[in-house]
Amino acid sequence: MNDLHGKRIVLGLTGGIACYKAAELCRSLVKAGAQVQVVMTEAAAQFITPVTLQALSGHPVYTSQWDAREGNNMAHINLSREADAIVIAPASADFMAKLIHGKADELLSLMCLARPLQTVPLILAPAMNREMWAHPATQRNVAQLKADGAHVLDVGQGDQACGETGDGRMLEADEIVEELLAFWTPQVLKGQQVLITAGPTYEAIDPVRGITNLSSGKMGFAIARAARHAGAEVTLVAGPVSLPTPRGIKRIDVRSALQMNDAVQGLAGHASVFIAAAAVADWRPAAAADHKIKKDGSGDAPDMKFVENPDILAQVAHSERAQKRQLFCVGFAAESHDLLALATAKRARKGVPLLVGNIGPSTFGQDDNALLLVDAQGAKELPRDTKTKLAQDLIQDIAQRLSKH
Ligand code: CTP
Repeated sequence: MNDLHGKRIVLGLTGGIACYKAAELCRSLVKAGAQVQVVMTEAAAQFITPVTLQALSGHPVYTSQWDAREGNNMAHINLSREADAIVIAPASADFMAKLIHGKADELLSLMCLARPLQTVPLILAPAMNREMWAHPATQRNVAQLKADGAHVLDVGQGDQACGETGDGRMLEADEIVEELLAFWTPQVLKGQQVLITAGPTYEAIDPVRGITNLSSGKMGFAIARAARHAGAEVTLVAGPVSLPTPRGIKRIDVRSALQMNDAVQGLAGHASVFIAAAAVADWRPAAAADHKIKKDGSGDAPDMKFVENPDILAQVAHSERAQKRQLFCVGFAAESHDLLALATAKRARKGVPLLVGNIGPSTFGQDDNALLLVDAQGAKELPRDTKTKLAQDLIQDIAQRLSKH
């Protein structure tokens, strides 16, 4: 995943036990395609050695403003002018207190002060003991840093190295990477409430058996992540899948189509965009048996009756909110053949402005896909790519439609 390709990041480490996570962060940033230049304070070097960060970043680490490697001896200017962002992780309570006063008695704080305010964002991932985090002085400093234009990330919650439990842990490396991706994504869905369904549904036959389908949920989860990166508030109603919840997303797990329908109809009244990416089972057994159905020795299969599930998308698309254009609905079509014709017909039948067609058997469970966007004017192809990239393109496309909706 090269989502940070070409980004030049100065990664600043200040003193704190969370420095061990900064090693992982450095590696994740490099893996995501960023060029990372590490700067460490003296206190940071007490917790982790510059050697480790040099090996992980592929560049010598700067620890002193007197570093003679720079021809003009102005590392604080040279490093900050070349950066797309300065990311301080961990940002200690002490370092944040220094920043708000514009103190500049060592390289990292000097560089933060000397950075061009308009072009080089300062992003801080605080890390400290819960009492230090909750202290009014720290909270005051965080507020002041934000007022001064810094982007201060949340802290995590849980067990702390000191043995206490509470707020103040530094976010995990993957969470910080997610925040950076969101930071650099154009906020085209800012202010939108996006509701998404994903995955299959499972329709019980008896307590141990059921019918389901091969949907993995990956496309719907990728869309949820892309929508959140684009600034939306996202609620994801997920069928039974084993995927981690993307950061910053509210997830509601359901099993059957009826449960998915209940969840969606309850939430659709607050949504401004509904994306139905789930592969909802069309039918369910008319009645699920209370006990496991046993063979009766006759050699015949049990007589099973099915009833049709509610069409979640059609119901939402025909709601007053959608009809009044307060809610933009997007459907999916998983077909096995004749994609254009079937998706075109399905769009009309579902009553949605946009329908996204894909070939089910060639995408279910995989990491890539190809999409066909069908609207009233015609069809547009999004050629085969990763689901992550297709989700980003789909979100861009939806954002453009919203502006004309
Ligand atoms: N969908 C839904 N509720 C259902 C069935 C489908 O919300 N009970 C949604 C899916 O999430 C998808 C779209 O409708 O966005 C198309 O689903 P699909 O199963 O491909 O279409 P069907 O309406 O079931 O049509 P067919 O079985 O004829 O292909």
